[in-house]
Amino acid sequence: MRLSQVGACVLLAVVSIQLVPCKGQATEFLFGTFPDNFWWSTATSSYQIEGAWNVSGKGLNIWDTYCHVGGNVNNNDTGDVACDSYNKYDEDIKLMKELGVSHYRFSISWARIFPDGTKASYNQAGIDHYEKLVDALKANDIIPMITLYHWDLPQALQDMGGWTNESLIGHFNDYADVMFEKLGPKVDLWLTFNEPFVVCWLGYGVGAHAPGIKEAGTSTYECAHTIIKSHAKAWHTYDTKYRATQKGKIGITLDSDWKEAFNASNPDDVAAADRAMQFKLGWFAHPIFVNGDYPEVMKAAVYNKSMAQGLDASRQPSFTEAEKQEIKGTHDFFGLNHYTTQLIEPRDWEFESWEQDQEAKEIRDPSWPDSGSDWLKVVPWGLRKLLSFVKDNYGNQEIIITENGVSIQSNTKEDALNDQARIDYYRGYINEVLKAIRLDNVNVIAYTAWSLLDNFEWSRGYAERFGLHYVDFDDPARPRTAKESAKYIKQLIKDHGFPDTSGGSKKQGSAIVGLCSVLGVILLKLFN
Ligand code: GAL
Repeated sequence: MRLSQVGACVLLAVVSIQLVPCKGQATEFLFGTFPDNFWWSTATSSYQIEGAWNVSGKGLNIWDTYCHVGGNVNNNDTGDVACDSYNKYDEDIKLMKELGVSHYRFSISWARIFPDGTKASYNQAGIDHYEKLVDALKANDIIPMITLYHWDLPQALQDMGGWTNESLIGHFNDYADVMFEKLGPKVDLWLTFNEPFVVCWLGYGVGAHAPGIKEAGTSTYECAHTIIKSHAKAWHTYDTKYRATQKGKIGITLDSDWKEAFNASNPDDVAAADRAMQFKLGWFAHPIFVNGDYPEVMKAAVYNKSMAQGLDASRQPSFTEAEKQEIKGTHDFFGLNHYTTQLIEPRDWEFESWEQDQEAKEIRDPSWPDSGSDWLKVVPWGLRKLLSFVKDNYGNQEIIITENGVSIQSNTKEDALNDQARIDYYRGYINEVLKAIRLDNVNVIAYTAWSLLDNFEWSRGYAERFGLHYVDFDDPARPRTAKESAKYIKQLIKDHGFPDTSGGSKKQGSAIVGLCSVLGVILLKLFN
């Protein structure tokens, strides 16, 4: 195609994008409030905020190791100091008080409790730290929700093969057991794992996260297999040993983008989008919430690809019948992290990896607003569709949104504080949660904003800021400053949603999103 033709096409597409909204995606803003018992939370994780990487007996974890090797992380940033929340948690709690959240989700650094990952290395100082944090939260009427594993595996366990070694099932259970015993009397809400998908794909598949392994067609699947079994075992430990006395709830947090068929009237696109959902969310949710086993479409796809490679078994390990029974039903709620959406169409890939086994290709609509992270496009309506998908596929579970938020890259502090784009993101996405509850009858019981603070954004370092509060990483005191979005969220929590104060005249107020058109589709095809 000649350049002038491309130009004409772009022009036509732009004009038509403005004129023809996608069916079912252009949505009106919904005024209204959340159910009375709906709760608001914010979240962080240990490696991303604590710092204090080598104090009070803490052992090395895989992120310490990964960051200390130059070249793995943007700007060679590390979590050595991060937000210094290990020392400044009182300040963090003040920020939460000011926001008005009722809950705070944070994670435990396993290597503070068991420096070498095993119970033989038990370190009381680690327990003492988290007990102080829990006490301080409760003294401020903030309910703690603890994630046991938010990616910072003790290095000594990685030296044994990490999540591809099934002996970690027992070690994780020992760690979980100690945490339930020590903190369970004060903590009612537990998450075993945060986003096993990211652990296994970025950590063991493409090597973009610690431990940096690139075995995308094998270790990725083994990692997931071990984590699902580890989750199930720890859930049963809580269920049989602690539930009766502690009366808490325990689940897992799964991340999922929404995968929308590129062309909803093309059955191949619809099937590809469903495959992509099954490979991403179903990989973990199907065993835990449905029948103890991976989704059929996923098992078949990996098996067929493995056979085509000339292997004598599938690259995806399988569960025994006893394991399926042990895994099925290990949930008290559905923990969900969500950030973005992709369009999906089928594609035959040449190589074998988790990504290519699913024979689907991701496309991002160029009309979707960008954020500070290349992977995160702003597509609020995807969250509502995802929530309905969870309801339809995994039973009408209580859903706790355990993360949702957006990054912005800013050159100056002033820019970072004036984060209108984050306000727009929260307004749009939280409104879709309200629609899911009020219009689709999805049982969402809580919303968690990621994150309380700007923090160490994994391999992106400190460049991509997700916080409601700005942290000055150049200042040794790591001062925090509320952004405009913190003020917005505070008001939203106070209002418990979006009450219509206009007497109804605002009903036409719109959040037209996801605009597209026939020509827009043609353009997308041309450039993807
Ligand atoms: C999630 C993760 C968080 C945070 C967030 C923003 O996947 O659980 O730790 O990094 O993404 O990228």
